[in-house]
Amino acid sequence: SDIEKGTYPHYMLKEMDEQPAVVRRITQKYEDACGELTIDATVMNAIKAADRLYIIAAGTSYHASLIGKQYFEKIAGIPVEVHISSEFGYNMPLLSKNPLFIFISQSGETADSRQVLVKIKELGYKALTITNVQGSTLSREAHYTLLLHAGPEIAVASTKAYIAQVTVLAIVAYAVAGTQDIDLKKELGIAANAIQTIIDHKEDFQKVVEDFLATTRNAFFIGRGMDYFVSMEGALKLKEISYIQAEGFAGGELKHGTIALIEDGTPVIALVTQKEVSLNIRGNVKEVVARGAYPCIISMEGMEEAGDTVVIPQVHPLLTPLASVVPTQLISYYAALYRGCDVDKPRNLAKSVTVE
Ligand code: G6P
Repeated sequence: SDIEKGTYPHYMLKEMDEQPAVVRRITQKYEDACGELTIDATVMNAIKAADRLYIIAAGTSYHASLIGKQYFEKIAGIPVEVHISSEFGYNMPLLSKNPLFIFISQSGETADSRQVLVKIKELGYKALTITNVQGSTLSREAHYTLLLHAGPEIAVASTKAYIAQVTVLAIVAYAVAGTQDIDLKKELGIAANAIQTIIDHKEDFQKVVEDFLATTRNAFFIGRGMDYFVSMEGALKLKEISYIQAEGFAGGELKHGTIALIEDGTPVIALVTQKEVSLNIRGNVKEVVARGAYPCIISMEGMEEAGDTVVIPQVHPLLTPLASVVPTQLISYYAALYRGCDVDKPRNLAKSVTVE
């Protein structure tokens, strides 16, 4: 069944393996009778009626929300703000005239998000919850719900739920935009295949970990554009399960402070999947290498250079997070294993944080 480990040593490994199937399942669940990707008309109208979307989330779901903002703004032309729920609750920004709130939560139980939902309902605003758990608190208390269909996620470190969140957000944004510019269904299929290819070569990441992360105290992830958001998620995953101090940065921002931390042998994991900024991020890699950093370059086909550590298959430029996050998950997984950490139940963390 979905909640048994079977032959897998860890739930996290099983859940990473399920990711291509999760993308495919979502595309089926969001198909209409004609096979077109769509969403419930009531939800669609609520989004279209809003002059601005406020996405509220925590942890990995916050990182998926940052990608979602790109989709709503670039594809559907709707302005979006993304907020960390624990901050929004106590420091509410000036709101637009007709906001719609979108709560993104794997569990649907995160107390910080729930508290925001209560507050915005008191103010008379409407909310959509995007969650993996039907009947969860955030789902029951919101006006609308869309499901992630990722299946139960047991490992504390979220993997397939992030993939599901990014996939559903892309579908929602395209449905709202009503655009035929790209064949999203086909592109999601290509992304699912790309994830599968990376997973099929997962053992390669053991070597990456032995080379880059065996004994290090810290590590940095850098990227630009979409890759910046995935860098933050990669760093969070590595922190959560391997206890290596990690941070995700915008490549260009490094020189404004963080570069001071680069020493001889400091691992810097760079994501290179965004054509317009690929030369810029390669420049940032050179800057850190000149200061002794040990670079691990994860590039996408078509942008690769000799010496890159990992080259991932090409996917649509807007869907790169679906592919580029997977190497960062595998690196974190093998780093945790290598360092003898409890992969599925890291210290101090809970799967869902139901207290404030
Ligand atoms: C906890 C988990 C994280 C998760 C976050 C948000 O901190 O350990 O993995 O990203 O909560 O959870 P949610 O269920 O709201 O997505």
